[in-house]
Amino acid sequence: WCSRKSHALKSWVLRRLQNQYGDLYTQENVVLSGTHTHSGPAGYFQYTIFVLSSEGFSRRTFEFIVDGIVKSIDMAHRNLKPGRIFVNKGNVEGAQINRSPYSYLQNPLSERNRYSANTDKEMLVLKMVDLNGEDLGLISWFAVHPVSMNNTNHLVNSDNVGYVSYMFEQEKNKGELPGQGPFVAAFASSNLGDVSPNILGPHCINTGESCDNFNSFCPIGGSDMCMAAGPGKDMFDSTRIIGDTIYQKAKELYDIASQEILGPLSAAHQWVNMTDVTVQLNSTHTAKTCKPALGHSFAAGTIDGVGGLNFTQGATEGDPFWDSIRDQLLGEPSNETKDCHKPKPILLSTGEMSRPHPWHPEIVDVQIITLGSLVIAAVPGEPTTMSGRRLREAIQKEFETSGRQNMTVVIAGLCNVYTHYIATYEEYQVSLEAPDTVANLSRGPEPPFFSQLMLPLTSNQVDRTPENTTFGDVLHPAKPEYQRGEVAEVMFVGANPKNSAENLTDHTFLTVEKYENTSAMWQIVHNDASWDTRFYWHKGSSGQSNVTIEWHIAGTTPLGLYRIRYFGHNRKQNFLQPAVFLPFQGASAPFWVTIK
Ligand SMILES: *[C@@H]1O[C@H](CO)[C@@H](O)[C@H](O)[C@H]1NC(C)=O
Ligand SMILES: *[C@@H]1O[C@H](CO)[C@@H](O)[C@H](O)[C@H]1NC(C)=O
Ligand SMILES: *[C@@H]1O[C@H](CO)[C@@H](O)[C@H](O)[C@H]1NC(C)=O
Ligand SMILES: *[C@@H]1O[C@H](CO)[C@@H](O)[C@H](O)[C@H]1NC(C)=O
Ligand SMILES: *[C@@H]1O[C@H](CO)[C@@H](O)[C@H](O)[C@H]1NC(C)=O
Ligand SMILES: *[C@@H]1O[C@H](CO)[C@@H](O)[C@H](O)[C@H]1NC(C)=O
Ligand SMILES: *[C@@H]1O[C@H](CO)[C@@H](O)[C@H](O)[C@H]1NC(C)=O
Ligand SMILES: *[C@@H]1O[C@H](CO)[C@@H](O)[C@H](O)[C@H]1NC(C)=O
Ligand SMILES: *[C@@H]1O[C@H](CO)[C@@H](O)[C@H](O)[C@H]1NC(C)=O
Ligand SMILES: *[C@@H]1O[C@H](CO)[C@@H](O)[C@H](O)[C@H]1NC(C)=O
Repeated sequence: WCSRKSHALKSWVLRRLQNQYGDLYTQENVVLSGTHTHSGPAGYFQYTIFVLSSEGFSRRTFEFIVDGIVKSIDMAHRNLKPGRIFVNKGNVEGAQINRSPYSYLQNPLSERNRYSANTDKEMLVLKMVDLNGEDLGLISWFAVHPVSMNNTNHLVNSDNVGYVSYMFEQEKNKGELPGQGPFVAAFASSNLGDVSPNILGPHCINTGESCDNFNSFCPIGGSDMCMAAGPGKDMFDSTRIIGDTIYQKAKELYDIASQEILGPLSAAHQWVNMTDVTVQLNSTHTAKTCKPALGHSFAAGTIDGVGGLNFTQGATEGDPFWDSIRDQLLGEPSNETKDCHKPKPILLSTGEMSRPHPWHPEIVDVQIITLGSLVIAAVPGEPTTMSGRRLREAIQKEFETSGRQNMTVVIAGLCNVYTHYIATYEEYQVSLEAPDTVANLSRGPEPPFFSQLMLPLTSNQVDRTPENTTFGDVLHPAKPEYQRGEVAEVMFVGANPKNSAENLTDHTFLTVEKYENTSAMWQIVHNDASWDTRFYWHKGSSGQSNVTIEWHIAGTTPLGLYRIRYFGHNRKQNFLQPAVFLPFQGASAPFWVTIK
């Protein structure tokens, strides 16, 4: 349920684009869609519920993400050229399971019988080439949660779909470092609400037995012990295996894509105040939406990452203990909200909580882009498999009524703002979060912006070094020699990595460099986005910290002389002066990579 967008974020991106490009990029034609990862920096949402885990709003994280997004749009704009788009579809096998199979079974049998599986296996690939047929890039949609990395991971990581992008771009940008080279491969999210990449399914981590039951419950230890396992020997290996499975299919689909997309491009956007939408159920009945609220199941988390407080998924009864704490600290939900959300018992009535400022958005974006016969439905939140299918069909039917047959509809999830899960009515009766609907398009009510945001509870600290050392000094040296398959490791005197986010969006914290005898120069062969490198920051007391850099030396690494370098910034502040960020670097001694 963590993702990558907020109202404030899109609004600032648009503001920056308008300064540069006038009316070219607008609310209507710009979609920010998160790929979804649980391993990213937090603190960029303006609503309280989404910044609790990061202890408040972080201006630095926010501006860094805005800078990065604007920069990538800028680069795309500067490289615009005429081209052609081809579409292809195919099934990816062995990369997903449904993680709420009991909720899925609540959907009518007649509806389920129309599908061969309880997840959507189809991947859609848009291949983009220039007028000479030269590769430019791709966008692809496939429904899987990027949670191959589990919640013990503290590395910033773009998970399984990030790995697919990495593999594809490395293949097309031969000889370039990750993040460089002209080819861009984007793997976007779709109706992944109930889809897990942890394909060995839920097991009790204490006893090993299956907990593939209605409540994801273990006989000893309850729900907190129930976790789904990926196919690899550890989470890195699982990320690689799932990523590679998706990559192989994407490459195959890309290579043979031949159906060209022709026709006009159009876009529409609307804000909807979701607390107040009347939905026509049938000719005689309507229903009304209400303020958002989070149920007990929310706190339970999922089999891909348990909540840690022993809440149970699929709970339709409250917990007296937590409910009373909630009532005393945060206020009791109103009867109106309770009635509206039934049968879900409310843990946090976020729509009724406004201190220090609102906890949950009331106004959310809906947006649609059409490109010839392709429709991209940009929805906030994470639709389940079946709600995604229903939405696709509803949109298709709507196009048919206006005479446009056979439109291909893709659901782009996690777009523009975040609204948790989107379940079908039937699924909602037993487990998931808030339902959602789409209305027709006027501009809609503008969402509010808060100038006073919840500030971080932790203050920024000046970086310090142990006595007689300086930033970048080597604390633990590399060994003089490693064999392929081993891990080279160096520890440096470090500083808070956040310092480097001040104004550098293309900073790398590390390089692995090879000595080239012919030129007598060090050649960069890996950076911090390489799959083979890991950067760990260990925070100590009174501003001291260490950095450990690992290089997992692949079996195909050319033999030779290498070194590892570290690039950081330390925060320095003199009394009553503004803080400054000073760049520094460190390097290991050269070491050999040899063959056994
Ligand atoms: C969680 O709940 C289960 C069942 O209610 C119980 O067996 C287990 O001891 C609880 N765990 C903790 C840490 O409270
Ligand atoms: C997460 O994955 C690591 C292996 O990478 C494993 O040791 C750990 O037990 C896993 N944690 C959970 C909660 O599954
Ligand atoms: C959304 O609608 C409700 C009910 O009409 C209203 O009270 C609320 O102020 C609106 N929210 C915003 C952010 O405008
Ligand atoms: C309309 O929907 C309501 C509420 O679900 C239901 O009770 C009623 O039978 C439906 N009427 C028709 C004509 O389908
Ligand atoms: C909510 O409903 C309960 C039960 O019907 C009632 O006792 C209570 O007074 C109501 N609370 C409010 C604030 O209306
Ligand atoms: C729509 O697709 C079907 C099956 O692929 C085809 O038979 C039909 O001719 C198509 N209709 C239009 C209007 O393209
Ligand atoms: C939405 O569509 C309905 C029925 O077609 C129409 O009456 C209404 O005015 C439309 N609403 C907006 C906001 O355009
Ligand atoms: C730091 O260097 C000074 C001067 O060489 C020396 O006296 C002192 O013992 C050193 N301190 C540590 C902790 O090594
Ligand atoms: C570079 O060339 C010199 C002279 O030919 C040789 O002695 C040395 O081992 C070479 N070094 C590497 C790293 O290959
Ligand atoms: C950093 O490394 C030094 C030397 O190994 C060690 O004494 C110190 O405890 C480490 N500090 C942290 C924060 O890991």
